[in-house]
Amino acid sequence: MAIQRIASKWKKTKIIRQNESLRPHIPDTRKFAFEPLRDMLIEYGFVFVKPDNGTYGNGVMSVELWRDELIPDSPIQYKLRYGTESELFPMVEALHEALEEKIGQTPYLIQKGIHALTYRRRKFDIRALVQKTPRKTWETTGFIGRVAAKQKVITNYHGGGSVMLIEDLLAPYTSPKEFAHLYKDMKSVGERVAAQLARKVPGLKEIGLDIAIDEQHHIWILEVNTLPALFPFKLLHPKEVYKKIRRYAVAYGRLKASSK
Ligand SMILES: Nc1ncnc2c1ncn2[C@@H]1O[C@H](COP(=O)(O)OP(=O)(O)O)[C@@H](O)[C@H]1O
Ligand SMILES: [Mg+2]
Repeated sequence: MAIQRIASKWKKTKIIRQNESLRPHIPDTRKFAFEPLRDMLIEYGFVFVKPDNGTYGNGVMSVELWRDELIPDSPIQYKLRYGTESELFPMVEALHEALEEKIGQTPYLIQKGIHALTYRRRKFDIRALVQKTPRKTWETTGFIGRVAAKQKVITNYHGGGSVMLIEDLLAPYTSPKEFAHLYKDMKSVGERVAAQLARKVPGLKEIGLDIAIDEQHHIWILEVNTLPALFPFKLLHPKEVYKKIRRYAVAYGRLKASSK
């Protein structure tokens, strides 16, 4: 069967939400409109606004509640961030208008913002690669940490982010025992997401999961990619890691046997 993929983040979210064991890992996600924007800002104080069909972090913005702490009793405002720029809005109506102007007719989503852990004051998240094995089971075959560029709200490599081993990123936050536990949980979440998606998309062979870890060390699924990049797993790991990834990808037809 040909490899099948889905672009819409909304569709993928709806499918994986159907698995109860995954629900605690999926941040509240709604279609962009005024009411959800207002309600989610009240409820979470931090949201992401992103294109339903985006890639590479393009068009991804965040909004957080913000107060000028140097001025006593100053009012709360909304801080919109995109790229390395930011803009303040005193009212949610004005924020919504500015967002509508940027978004135009493109379908957008709003998602609860996750306060991801940081490395040298930069946010990081984790890309997990999950592949169909030649034995037709799902296996999480690799993890890579992605660190945002300075002042940026996205960690994407194409957005100036850099890659690091998750062992190095999580070491300051976890004991070896806790790391092992988190590692096992992320692996299992990845495999369950793939199995759940495959119920609706039988030709699925591989996914890339964007995972954020918050201060409580909770695992959050930010996004599921159905055309994951493989090259980041060549960079920092022992070469056995990519060898297996490549072997699986050849078995399901993403790569040619002769490819490197
Ligand atoms: N809900 C969120 N909370 C925190 N960070 C987020 C959230 N959604 C997206 N991000 C950041 O933005 C990046 C890009 O968003 P993502 O949903 O993965 O879109 P894309 O398809 O463009 O990669 C993520 O890797 C992460 O760094
Ligand atoms: Mg992504």
